[in-house]
Amino acid sequence: MVVRVCMGSSCHLKNSYRVVQKLEELKQKYPDISIYGSLCFGSCSEGVCVQIDGKLYKQVSSKNIEQIILEAKNESNHLE
Ligand code: FES
Repeated sequence: MVVRVCMGSSCHLKNSYRVVQKLEELKQKYPDISIYGSLCFGSCSEGVCVQIDGKLYKQVSSKNIEQIILEAKNESNHLE
């Protein structure tokens, strides 16, 4: 699972680094997560933006990222 966290300034101001910290923790639980930084996704007003396996998720925070990961995992299971 490829997770790209926006490193743009607007998402940074909305604490994107906290999302990264939380993802680092979640990596212990879900070792198939690969975390990358990304340039701005162009949805700055709805940040923090995170792209998971090509799908863009908006208004991501350290509080909802685990739920979003689980949803994304569920979706990819349905596609297999
Ligand atoms: S700064 Fe994150 S979407 Fe633009």
